[in-house]
Amino acid sequence: MRHRNSFIYYGSLFTFLFLIAGCKLKSNGPDLDPDIESKVNTLVSEMTLAEKIGQMTQVNKGFLHSNEDIKTYFLGSLLSGGGFTPEVNEPEHWVDMVDEYQNMALQTRLKIPLIYGIDAVHGHNNVIGATIFPHNIGLGCTDNPDLVKKASEVTALEVAATGIHWTFSPCIAVPRDERWGRHYEGYSESPDLVKDLGAASIQGYQGESLADRKTVLACAKHYVGDGGVDWGSGMGGKIDRGNVTISEEEIRNLHLPGYLSALEVGVGSIMISYSSINGDKMHGSKYYITDILKDELGFNGLVVSDWAGIDEIPGDYKSDIEMAINAGLDLIMVPESYLDFINYMTELVNEEKISMDRIDDAVTRILRIKYQLGLFENPLADRSLLGTVGSLENREVARQCVRESLVLLKNENDVLPINKTGSKILVAGANADNLGHQCGGWTISWQGDSGDITTGTTIYNAILNSVSDQTNVVYSEDGTNASSADVAIAVIGEGPYAEMQGDRDDLSLSDSDIQTLTNLKNAGVPTVIVLISGRPLIVEEYLADWDGFIAAWLPGTEGQGVADVLFGDYNPTGKLSISWPRTMDQIPINIGDDEYNPLFEFGYGLNY
Ligand code: BGC
Ligand code: BGC
Repeated sequence: MRHRNSFIYYGSLFTFLFLIAGCKLKSNGPDLDPDIESKVNTLVSEMTLAEKIGQMTQVNKGFLHSNEDIKTYFLGSLLSGGGFTPEVNEPEHWVDMVDEYQNMALQTRLKIPLIYGIDAVHGHNNVIGATIFPHNIGLGCTDNPDLVKKASEVTALEVAATGIHWTFSPCIAVPRDERWGRHYEGYSESPDLVKDLGAASIQGYQGESLADRKTVLACAKHYVGDGGVDWGSGMGGKIDRGNVTISEEEIRNLHLPGYLSALEVGVGSIMISYSSINGDKMHGSKYYITDILKDELGFNGLVVSDWAGIDEIPGDYKSDIEMAINAGLDLIMVPESYLDFINYMTELVNEEKISMDRIDDAVTRILRIKYQLGLFENPLADRSLLGTVGSLENREVARQCVRESLVLLKNENDVLPINKTGSKILVAGANADNLGHQCGGWTISWQGDSGDITTGTTIYNAILNSVSDQTNVVYSEDGTNASSADVAIAVIGEGPYAEMQGDRDDLSLSDSDIQTLTNLKNAGVPTVIVLISGRPLIVEEYLADWDGFIAAWLPGTEGQGVADVLFGDYNPTGKLSISWPRTMDQIPINIGDDEYNPLFEFGYGLNY
């Protein structure tokens, strides 16, 4: 107790000194500003319990019973879950929608603005017409923090242009198992790469100042260990939301480093993982959230739950809330039954199962971020930014990301780069002319879709754009009629998926891809394979038939970047940020394993 008192004494003395010095204190999270700290304290002291609980409540916009509820329940935050768009999915309509919600919040007694969040995880990916970047696995292969930062700057601009303040990104998972449907959301199986690229991304989103109208709040997710889950322990007996069997030391060596660098660059929010560590749900883990993240690492930003993440804590909903809030969660992505959440919260505080100190800490963190974002001064969107959504300039940055993310894995007889002039090129494969497939999950809808889901360039169209008039490009999806071609480009691989639905214990090529390959082989033309996938697929038995092989991951809307590499306008620089397994039996396979015999090693990548 004496220890605690002296801590409080020196603590206040220190606060006093830095207040009078008027300086900014560098801490773990965004820089603290004494002026903001005092405004937050004053505001918290004026708030009723209902107003405080409202601040801690985040509702998916699609689950609001009425816009009036924002006012009635003092809701502090809304989000758009994957695919929850305004009725007309156009940038102006996003602004109108968010501003309308905000105007409701501004009608409350204290006029505390809402913070609106969205998964802009590879560009502003819910918005039709926005620039879609490669998913993180591709960015991992660029190993270029400056470019990753630039990509996040562009995304922040497009998000801000639609009136939204917060992106649930970057995912700094360290995915260790290719069977996980979220493998592509992580940069790399290597914590070092995740550390560098995650920090760069946060700097891009948050800029020099959160208050800059062109920046947004970043969210490092999912804390902690999401990428380390054991196959078989997750939903449906698969992997998503499962358990990590691991020592604390390994957590600190493998899964925590990304958070250390995120904190260093001032990340303002952190999302908790659905997964468990040694049987304990992260959403209920006071040890990881309060003891490590807030106390040991000094995180001063806000901790948000995942979508209904607290519901997965064993016990009934009321006990879930008690456990989660006492574990240190500040804002709950409810996201649906907010009346139940608010009622139980109120009961729990009245029953003294959740202390007022804990509530005040949560509300302080939420309001601090709102002040840091400048929301009190500028609650409504800056409509002058609208024209930036999907601009050519932004798409150019995404195209550069695509070029640098491609990994050249095989190039026999110099089949690549392909001659742009005079040849006959056969384009084949189910992913050659499919924008939805090249974007993958988390694009326009939650799980992603097939076909022309937004504005962009398919790989086939990019090839047409690249070649000269004398070149004959023929498209044959199944690879038939190839015999007269000089070269065939087959774009094969996976269709779109996201969390849960992408968990797979068989990563072989599909039957239709195999048929396409067989047709090309029978035609006897030199063949280049472009693989569109969120993870390495099992290809060893076909590799000998391929002259060229490029891993293109999930490149997004700027398919032109793929053609730039195919035709040698860009000499490939991408290097594998993961290890490529030969067989399913080898998975999980990661750099540093005692036994390590992948098809392609971590860091592998050729050039011309
Ligand atoms: C995902 C998060 C995402 C959230 C909101 C969850 O299911 O795990 O990554 O940010 O939904 O859409
Ligand atoms: C939402 C996603 C969310 C998921 C969680 C979906 O309906 O659109 O954003 O991540 O549910 O289960």
